[in-house]
Amino acid sequence: MKDDIAVIGAGVIGGAIVKSLLKGGYKGKITATRRKVEKLKELEELGAVITRDNRKAAEQSNIVFICVKQNDVGNILKEVKKEIEGKLVVSTAATIPLEFYKSIVPKARFVRTMPNVAVLVQEAFTAYCCDSDVTSEDKGKVEKILNSMGICQEVEQKYMDAITALSGSGPAYLSVIIESMMYAGLKVGLPRELSLYSSAQTVLGTGKLVLHFLETKEHLAEIKDMVTTPGGITIEGIYELEGSEIRTALMRAVERATEKCSKIRLGWKK
Ligand SMILES: NC(=O)c1ccc[n+]([C@@H]2O[C@H](COP(=O)([O-])OP(=O)(O)OC[C@H]3O[C@@H](n4cnc5c(N)ncnc54)[C@H](OP(=O)(O)O)[C@@H]3O)[C@@H](O)[C@H]2O)c1
Repeated sequence: MKDDIAVIGAGVIGGAIVKSLLKGGYKGKITATRRKVEKLKELEELGAVITRDNRKAAEQSNIVFICVKQNDVGNILKEVKKEIEGKLVVSTAATIPLEFYKSIVPKARFVRTMPNVAVLVQEAFTAYCCDSDVTSEDKGKVEKILNSMGICQEVEQKYMDAITALSGSGPAYLSVIIESMMYAGLKVGLPRELSLYSSAQTVLGTGKLVLHFLETKEHLAEIKDMVTTPGGITIEGIYELEGSEIRTALMRAVERATEKCSKIRLGWKK
């Protein structure tokens, strides 16, 4: 991996992408941009070139990441149009369809991604889809980069609204669940820090266990069976949960967020 990479808009997600690449020992040059360039000092210390000049950053790179907020994407594309022609461009912006990018810069090859904020700890799930000009060599490069921040999977663009609502917004839902577990611990007398730490580690460990089950083709429900002794302790908790609306509440959350994504997406025009 020796392509030089520009990350335009190195805020939360863009900054984390730069950090993941640098921590992973990426060999090419990495340039990070934002207007408040003084906020990029930490990335500079880690080895990135920092600048306010998006055009120069794009011109000097083979792969360009666009990580600005959705409403800024159109202006950035117009600003760096010449510099990204013929290049691989990866956007992290939610809701914006590939057709929008292509309509502004038809000669660039675009990859639309949906990472999540766990990119900050190199544990993101990133879904991506590509326009028809993206080559298999391009995909290989993109996957190597995205896998340095967690794991990635190619999906059809028609799934991007749903994946945005599920794994893109997912850290927010799980924070609510972890916080609720932490309060539950407080209710039964645990010290705050112990309660939060044990809740977060339990969610992390369960996530890893589910991934392991996926590999071994065991069913998710087996985790419940392994923890639930007849007449025992866990079944008391499960009984309360099943009587609540926890399942439908989560389903409704993802459904509402998906609907919102579709509504915003349909508003994107050149
Ligand atoms: N946060 C998430 O969990 C998440 C998850 C998945 C996808 N996304 C997507 O990722 C994108 C970025 O989100 P974010 O949360 O990282 O936002 P963010 O922290 O606000 O980062 C955006 C950055 O863009 C910079 N910027 C704005 N205008 C610019 C310009 N003209 N030239 C160069 N840099 C410019 C801003 O810095 P200055 O003001 O200093 O220029 C800011 O640091 C969004 O499109 C979002 O949909 C976010």
